[in-house]
Amino acid sequence: MSQIEVSGLTKVFRQAIKQPGLKGAVKHFFTQQYRDKQAVDGINLTIEKGESVAYVGPNGAGKSTTIKMLTGILVPTSGAVRVNGIDPHKKRMENAGKIGAVFGQRTQLWWDIPVAESFSLLKDIYEIPDGVYRENMKTFTKLLELDEYIHLTGRKLSLGQRMRADLAASLLHNPEIVYLDEPTIGLDIAVKERIRKFIKHINAELGTTVMLTTHDLGDIEDLCSRLVIIDHGKIIYDGELQAVKDAFARERTLHFQLGKPASALAHTLHGIPGIISHEADGNQVSVSFDRFAVTAGEVAGQIMKLAEVVDFRIDEPSIETIIRRVYAGELDLAEMATEERGVV
Ligand SMILES: Nc1ncnc2c1ncn2[C@@H]1O[C@H](COP(=O)(O)OP(=O)(O)OP(=O)(O)O)[C@@H](O)[C@H]1O
Ligand SMILES: [Mg+2]
Repeated sequence: MSQIEVSGLTKVFRQAIKQPGLKGAVKHFFTQQYRDKQAVDGINLTIEKGESVAYVGPNGAGKSTTIKMLTGILVPTSGAVRVNGIDPHKKRMENAGKIGAVFGQRTQLWWDIPVAESFSLLKDIYEIPDGVYRENMKTFTKLLELDEYIHLTGRKLSLGQRMRADLAASLLHNPEIVYLDEPTIGLDIAVKERIRKFIKHINAELGTTVMLTTHDLGDIEDLCSRLVIIDHGKIIYDGELQAVKDAFARERTLHFQLGKPASALAHTLHGIPGIISHEADGNQVSVSFDRFAVTAGEVAGQIMKLAEVVDFRIDEPSIETIIRRVYAGELDLAEMATEERGVV
C-alpha cells in the first residue's frame, strides 16, 4: 500500500452566475443560474512514504483543490482518496494527526495570541509528548529563527515570519506527510532559502513525505525529484524532474574563456556536426549544441584542439524555461511519456 493513493479523483464546483448590482442579485434570487466548474478532473496519483513531490500548474489548474481533498477539507465529487489507508474526509481527526499543512495564502495561527501560545495550544490539541515538543521547538528555533518573533501575536508578524511560524506549527506533531501549498509565496530570497533548507531537513532527516505546490521553480529544483504537472484539472506529466529536463533540453551551451581572441574560430566551428550556433566576444566564445548529436566532451575537445582554453562552463537547461513551454502548449509531455514507455 502506498502512503497516498488517489484514483479517478474529481471535484466539480457549482459556481453561481450573478449579474452585477442589486438587479442582478434579485434576478439571481428568482432564477438561479449556475455553471459547473470541473476543478479536478479524474486524477490518479500514488505517492510513497518519504517522497518529495512538486505539484505544479498554471493558476486555476486545480492544485489547491487537490490538496484540500487530500487533507480532508473538501469532499471529492467522485473518485477515491486514501492516505495511510484511510479516507481523509471521512476520518478527519485520524488523518489530521498524521499530516501537516501550510496554505501560504492564509494562516493557521491564532491572530490574537503570541505565537508561543499558539504552539502550546497545538501541543495540547495534538497531544504532543513533552519530549517531542521540546526537541522540535529546539530544532525549529534554530532552523526557522523562531526567537525573533515567537513573542509576537499572529497579527503582528511579517509575511516571512508568519510563514516560518506556520511551517513550525504544521510540523510540531511530527506528521508523516506535509502538504505545502505555496509556502514561499511573496518571500524574500533569504527567507525562501531558510524555508527550503528547513523543508529539505524534514524530508531528508525525518523522512517526512512532502507534497509541494509552488510557482517558484527554484523551489522545485531545490527540493523535489518528482514532478507532477496539472493543467485544467488533469495530470499532464508525472515523473522524474530530471527526465523532463533531459527530454526537452536538447540544446545546451558551453562558454569558453580562451587565451586569445576567439573570432578566428568562427568558420571552423561551422564544420562541427551538432553545433547549432556560436557567438564570440573578445576572448569568450559560447557554443550552443544539440546534445543528442554531439556530447559536451566532443565540443570541448574540438575547441581545445583549436585554441588554448583557460576556463569553461556549461549552462544546464533551466526547468523554468521548460515548464513555461509546457504551459504554453509548445511541449507535449504526454507524447514524451508515451515514447519513454516505448508505446507508439
Ligand atoms: N470554493 C470554490 N467554489 C467555486 N469554484 C472554486 C472554488 N475553489 C476553487 N474553485 C475553482 O476551481 C478551479 C481550480 O482552483 P484551485 O484553487 O484548485 O487552483 P490552483 O491550481 O490552486 O491555482 P493557483 O495557482 O491560482 O493557486 C478554479 O477555476 C477556481 O475558480
Ligand atoms: Mg492554489
